[in-house]
Amino acid sequence: MALATRFSVSNLFPILTTFDIQGIVREITKLSNYIDKIFESIIDRRRKMAREEGGDEKKKEGMHLLLQLTEDENRKTPFIVDTMKAIIQDLLVGGTNTTSTMVACSIGELLKHPDMMRKVQEELEQVGGKNNIVEESHLPKFHYLDAVMKESHHLNPAIPFLVPGSPSKTSVVG
Ligand code: HEM
Repeated sequence: MALATRFSVSNLFPILTTFDIQGIVREITKLSNYIDKIFESIIDRRRKMAREEGGDEKKKEGMHLLLQLTEDENRKTPFIVDTMKAIIQDLLVGGTNTTSTMVACSIGELLKHPDMMRKVQEELEQVGGKNNIVEESHLPKFHYLDAVMKESHHLNPAIPFLVPGSPSKTSVVG
């Protein structure tokens, strides 16, 4: 994340891209290969688990379903292991730093506003029970916490601008 968002002179002067003056591409390539090995081992482990569990539908989760797609030879669009790795990487990169930044910012805001911190704690106790772990099913009932998170996003956007994108071909909108 730090490398991908680091200031790069090649972004200003694309002619310099091939020289990789700051070594960013070199570093990212090294890390990508490392991450690729981790993904390989996760996928191998899941493949083994899927074989052991056989066709037990109840035990299947996201990774198993993705694996199934890679084995489906009748698909119109090929879904290869690299596609699977790209999806896992997308979710990890998209979901890690953003979430931890927002949790840190929200806790920071609550520390600055102890009255609101108290209200969140009261709601957590009321909805989830004092020493219980919060379950996903509780989430719709956390109205105050929901408002706190939304306001925290307003005050501290984890990503202040939309990710730049452009259409791959000229299109007429509407
Ligand atoms: C506070 C948390 C998060 C913030 C602030 C955030 C922010 C963003 C932003 C600004 C975009 C670009 C939208 C656009 O350009 O149209 C985006 C896209 C995306 N995010 Fe998140 N995100 C968060 C959490 C997550 C989580 C938890 C995941 C995955 C588990 C995730 C996965 C993705 C993916 C896959 C995309 C690309 C979607 C697409 O282009 O189709 N994000 N996110």
